[in-house]
Amino acid sequence: MPDLILPGLIDVHTHLRVPGGEHKEDFATGTAAALAGGVTMVLAMPNTNPPLTTPDALAAALRAAAAGARCDVGLYAGASREDVTHLSGLAGQAVALKIYLNDTFGKLRVDDLPTLAVCFQAWPRERVIALHAERQSVAVAIGLAAVYDRPVHIVHVSRREEIELIADAKGRGLPVTCEVSPHHLFLSAADAARLGPLGDMRPVLGTAEDVAALWAHLLGGTVDCIATDHAPHTLDEKRGPNPPPGVPGLETSLPLMLTAVADGRLPVERLTALMHDNPRRIFGLRAQPDTRVEVDMTPWTIPATGWQTKCDWTPFAGLTAGGRVRRVVLRGQIVYEDGAVLAVPGSGQVINGAGLERD
Ligand code: DOR
Ligand code: ZN
Repeated sequence: MPDLILPGLIDVHTHLRVPGGEHKEDFATGTAAALAGGVTMVLAMPNTNPPLTTPDALAAALRAAAAGARCDVGLYAGASREDVTHLSGLAGQAVALKIYLNDTFGKLRVDDLPTLAVCFQAWPRERVIALHAERQSVAVAIGLAAVYDRPVHIVHVSRREEIELIADAKGRGLPVTCEVSPHHLFLSAADAARLGPLGDMRPVLGTAEDVAALWAHLLGGTVDCIATDHAPHTLDEKRGPNPPPGVPGLETSLPLMLTAVADGRLPVERLTALMHDNPRRIFGLRAQPDTRVEVDMTPWTIPATGWQTKCDWTPFAGLTAGGRVRRVVLRGQIVYEDGAVLAVPGSGQVINGAGLERD
């Protein structure tokens, strides 16, 4: 008997690197990592090379996903000034729109107001707009939600000042949701010094005060989702002269969050809300029938290697995790069991814009 049975988890923020970064990750390896972490549905980001800002690029990525995915995959369309005229052509294929307001890996960025205004006017109202927004950009995201009276989802919130502004916005009834990533909950600036480039990501790791504020708002209800921001780069790249920001996270997200469950800090119902119910509701994702994750609550030490992700490293090596995934059942099939990924590439379903619950 498993210690815990959870629904198939949904990660609304993952980087699967197709096209252009297949040496870091591809749909087959990234979704294998997802299943090993108890994640049966991922939404993949558009900061690929080329980025997913045109209908042709998105269609090609969807074909690659259909051929390679072992769990269900939806794609984000990317916003850019050059391709903003394509937005209506992207909406049928993408699950949501991603706008980068701050610098990170890749070139996708929107830093002019007219493009933002077009995005908020042209993107279908019932479809999510997700924003990478740091520091005062969080106020820009919330301001746009207020002006255009439509929901925004703020990704990987990492600072106290940001989560407090989001809490105030929610208190005023503004349509804002947000996610937090496990690395911002379980690591801090002190770890960044220890880890060097392996602890570098955007947003960067926060202070102990930031971490405490994120936990308080996670337990208090401001945080809607846990999202991995699984951002694989090879060890050679991370240890090279120009290390790209980002860390893998699909296989360690649930085990780390189970530590908080084991400690009695996080009720299982809240964990399920953060990793399944809220992601599903916010993005309008369909239920996966006969799907579950069986968990063993024996503590274990996170190893440095031996992962499903192509990059095969983790910033969490040496940390104690409160539990692990024993078995994953997706639509009645055992797709992962005791370290073995049983689902074959192509067995996952692709979720396009027309496959959402609210359409
Ligand atoms: O650290 C990061 N890496 N943050 C992001 O927002 C993007 C990601 C990546 O794509 O590598
Ligand atoms: Zn990301």
